[in-house]
Amino acid sequence: MTDRVLIFDTTLRDGEQSPGATMTHAEKLEIAGMLDDMGVDIIEAGFPIASEGDFAAVAAIAKASRNSTICGLSRANFKDIDRCWEAVKHAAKPRIHTFIGTSELHRAIPNLTMDQMAERIHDCVTHARNLCEDVQWSSMDATRTEWDFLKRTVEIAIAAGATTINIPDTVGYTAPVESADLIRRLIAECEGGTDVIFATHCHNDLGMATANSLAAVEGGARQIECTINGLGERAGNTALEEVVMAMKVRSDIMPFHSNVDSKKIMAISRRVATVSGFPVQFNKAIVGKNAFAHESGIHQDGMLKNAETFEIMRPTDVGLTETSLVMGKHSGRAALRSKLLELGYELADNQLADVFVRFKELADRKKEVFEDDLVALMRQNDAVEDRIKLKSLRVVCGTDGPQTADIVLTIDGVEKSASTTGDGPVDSAFNAVKALFDHKARLQLYQVHAVTEGTDAQATVSVRLEEDGRIATGQSADTDTVVASTKAYINALNRLIVRREKTAPDHDTKGVSYKDVGQ
Ligand code: KIV
Ligand code: ZN
Repeated sequence: MTDRVLIFDTTLRDGEQSPGATMTHAEKLEIAGMLDDMGVDIIEAGFPIASEGDFAAVAAIAKASRNSTICGLSRANFKDIDRCWEAVKHAAKPRIHTFIGTSELHRAIPNLTMDQMAERIHDCVTHARNLCEDVQWSSMDATRTEWDFLKRTVEIAIAAGATTINIPDTVGYTAPVESADLIRRLIAECEGGTDVIFATHCHNDLGMATANSLAAVEGGARQIECTINGLGERAGNTALEEVVMAMKVRSDIMPFHSNVDSKKIMAISRRVATVSGFPVQFNKAIVGKNAFAHESGIHQDGMLKNAETFEIMRPTDVGLTETSLVMGKHSGRAALRSKLLELGYELADNQLADVFVRFKELADRKKEVFEDDLVALMRQNDAVEDRIKLKSLRVVCGTDGPQTADIVLTIDGVEKSASTTGDGPVDSAFNAVKALFDHKARLQLYQVHAVTEGTDAQATVSVRLEEDGRIATGQSADTDTVVASTKAYINALNRLIVRREKTAPDHDTKGVSYKDVGQ
């Protein structure tokens, strides 16, 4: 057994599945490119049968792939598997991932007996293997599956040709000792257990996903399934940055390593936060804004004397630069390009020209432009596919209401304007948008943060909308809070439009239900 652990990233499948985290086609391609670039071994690019959009994204990612294996998810039925193959076959290294829920609770949903399920696994893995050399089998809810039946499903999948066996902790139920024991026992007791790679796929419902994944590696697993920022349904999945850095920092007691270039972690973390609309909590391990901040006097004093007093890894190890103060209004185009590259944005000349204009506008309004300001600025660049665009906004507010908003929007290329009132400036601006683009979405969340310090700081706003069970999150930033709010609202509406193209609401797993496993 080697000490090399494969990193399987499922940000674009399990991560994107979390309600509100919908990404556009272009965003998925961009994230896949970054994952490939940073040394991720396997990218789970989506669930091809879920929608035309998912299929197209997986196929495009497969075509563009360079080093990573490109994997697609499919339920255990021939139709899903065939569709998955059609999408991933374009990759130099394609993989079909197929699964079924094997625990008693999950078996009851398709109403299959153990024997019927065993036969289904044999047939599906054999079928997948006839299409593709690299097949991954998952016994979903493995950690709550009876031992004898779990062992039987794994042995059937191995005999039918699966090359990777995934043992998902689907509901985040296991604990480290149990996680290690389960993998160890499966490898030792399953027929063919030493001929395949065992994978661990943990959810974070009890906050133990990272610990459980590393324990599984201790038990013999050699593939960790994870997402950037731990993005994922409910409490999320194992965070890629945490397992990669834990193996690196504590190689003395965990003598394993991955192929991931840890210096690329911050850039992709920021990008995933932006495109998914899920901001990273400030105190999140490795990638949180405060992960390397030392504010208390005692800490600062210790840090000045010797950084190791309070730091177990260097900020540069994860791609954080020494200083976050970047530029002002005299900074040039080349400096902007190189700073953006450092932050994970590789821009073509025409894109840079556009961003440079907006950077100058921002630098005129704000004396100092920080890294976080640039990340916020880049969010405005994501608007290329938007159907609704803000042209201008004027809001009048004060103590003697009512507040009024005059707005001009471009909707599908046609300019439209409206004047409305509301209960406060944000409400009046949102009413103005609704007057021009009628919809029945409900506002679920409205959150404002200051990007940096000072009264000239940009406000970054998140807006989450829900319409018929479909959820979309929008984000934006501006030195004017009302403008940032309106842009975030419009961004959420644009994402909702993309979301409407999927065939079913979020709780049905992006168009298809995991429950429907008919052949
Ligand atoms: O959590 C889970 O069980 C999954 C499977 C589809 C692998 O995501
Ligand atoms: Zn999962």
